[in-house]
Amino acid sequence: MAAPAAEGAAAAALLAVLARAGRAAERSGRVAEAVRVVAVGKTKPVSMLRQLYDAGHRCFGENYVQELVTKAPQLPEDIRWHFIGHLQSNKVKPLLAAVPNLDMVEGVNNEKIANHLDRAVNSLGREPLKVLVQVNTSGEESKSGVDPSRCVELAKHVKLACPHLIFSGLMTIGMKDYSSTPENFKALVDCKLEVCNALQIPTEQFELSMGMSGDFEQAIEMGSTNVRIGSTIFGPREYPNKKQ
Ligand SMILES: *Cc1c(COP(=O)(O)O)cnc(C)c1O
Ligand SMILES: *[C@@H]1O[C@H](CO)[C@@H](O)[C@H](O)[C@H]1NC(C)=O
Repeated sequence: MAAPAAEGAAAAALLAVLARAGRAAERSGRVAEAVRVVAVGKTKPVSMLRQLYDAGHRCFGENYVQELVTKAPQLPEDIRWHFIGHLQSNKVKPLLAAVPNLDMVEGVNNEKIANHLDRAVNSLGREPLKVLVQVNTSGEESKSGVDPSRCVELAKHVKLACPHLIFSGLMTIGMKDYSSTPENFKALVDCKLEVCNALQIPTEQFELSMGMSGDFEQAIEMGSTNVRIGSTIFGPREYPNKKQ
């Protein structure tokens, strides 16, 4: 039974996260602006997201289609939304139709979903959509990301066979419980080097989405360009039985 967050608490927490992320970027030899903080608002009310918007933040992430489709129209259009995690192919069209300001899909994990996204962008006539290929860096095959041995193959498909998508890099979640280890980050960095080499992409133009509340500074030190932060900004998530 957590008390509701005090007015302004999320905005203060965001500023603290931005400062920590900026210092980690500098430790990695980059400028603070080289790392994007995606505020992951899943299960949190629009009013809390609005608080961050009013504090100047523009990049938000959600990982349930229904939740994103409900929230996006209630918030300003200059927000850059990221869809993070597993996306079902039958949800692609409704997602893109309802969220014209969807900026990136973090989590293309097979060719079928890439093809669905490519066709939907084309038929809606919207601008090309940035996508990251999701890699399961815990080593074994799973539907939550391609095996590292297949990352070049899928990246190549997105880059060469999906003209309405912009292949932008790789993302990983690590374990199912949203935790990750330095080994997971190292595996993603290895995939990046392979993909950049195979597709002749300059490494400095390549996104790596890794790092969440518990480990984002380490992820940045290991080369992350995009961290996805939920609970450290918004407080712990509560999952009520009743879906609002
Ligand atoms: C919920 C979620 C996050 C944020 O997790 P926190 O540990 O609360 O920061 C990051 N990435 C994905 C894919 C998520 O679903
Ligand atoms: C990746 O695969 C392993 C082994 O199958 C599994 O334990 C792990 O949960 C998967 N990762 C995710 C994010 O689903």
